[in-house]
Amino acid sequence: MRRDWDQRARENARHYVVTGQRVWTDEEFYESGEITMREDILNDLANICRGRDPKEMTVLEIGCGAGRVTRAFAGFFGAVCAVDISREMAKRARQAVRDFPHARIYRNNGKDLSAVRRHWWNRLGIGAGVQVDFAFSTMVFQHIPSREIIENYVREAHRLLRPGGLFKFQVQGAPLPGIDPGNSWVGATFTEQEAREMARRCGFEMRYHNGAGEQYFWLWYFKPENT
Ligand SMILES: C[S@@+](CC[C@H](N)C(=O)[O-])C[C@H]1O[C@@H](n2cnc3c(N)ncnc32)[C@H](O)[C@@H]1O
Repeated sequence: MRRDWDQRARENARHYVVTGQRVWTDEEFYESGEITMREDILNDLANICRGRDPKEMTVLEIGCGAGRVTRAFAGFFGAVCAVDISREMAKRARQAVRDFPHARIYRNNGKDLSAVRRHWWNRLGIGAGVQVDFAFSTMVFQHIPSREIIENYVREAHRLLRPGGLFKFQVQGAPLPGIDPGNSWVGATFTEQEAREMARRCGFEMRYHNGAGEQYFWLWYFKPENT
C-alpha cells in the first residue's frame, strides 16, 4: 500500500487525493478542504464539539493525503494531528500546514496509530496522555482492501478518543464494478449490519449512519462516556 501511494503522490498527489481534476492550483485544492469542512464538520458541530469550544479541542485525521482537510482543520481546531501511510503524501501535508504550528503530521505504518506520540502533546501543554476529542477520516478506508486493518484503525481511534468523543468516518458501502478488489485502490465494502457489528466489537456506539449501499457510507461512532 505504501509503495502504491508513494508512487501516486509522486505522479500527481492532488489528483489521486481528489480525482475530480488532474490539475489543481493551491487555491482550488485547499478550497476543496474547506468544502469538506463545511459539509462534514460545520453542519455537524453538535455531534463533533458537544458544546466545547473548537479551539480547545484536539482532533485526529486518519489518512490525511496532501493535507487539504488537515489544513482546514488547523484553521478551526485548537490542535490537529494526522497520519498517512505514504511518506510522499505526508511530506505534502506538512507543506500544507507549515503555517500552523499546532498541526502535526505523522507517517504511520498503515495499520495503527502508534506513530501518534506523546511528546508533541506534552509540548503543546495539552496533557499527560495522548487523547483526542474528535477523530475523522474520509476517502481512506474506501481504499483499504483489508477489513482487519480498517477494524484495527477503529479500535485505535477508540483507544485515543476521550470518553464521549466521536469518530466520524467514511467506508465503502457498495462494491465498485470491474475493479480487482485485491489492489490498493478499492477498499472493503461494509453493509449497515457489518458496520454496526464492527462498532460493537470495538467498544463504540454507532449512533448514526448515512449512505448505506453507496460508495460514501458515513458512520458516526461514539465512545461511551463510561469507558
Ligand atoms: C484518496 S486520498 C484522501 C486523502 C484525504 N483523506 C483527503 O480527503 O484529502 C487517500 C489517502 O489515504 C492514505 N492511505 C491509504 N491506505 C492507508 C493506510 N492503510 N493507512 C494510512 N493511510 C492510508 C493514502 O496514502 C492517501 O494519502
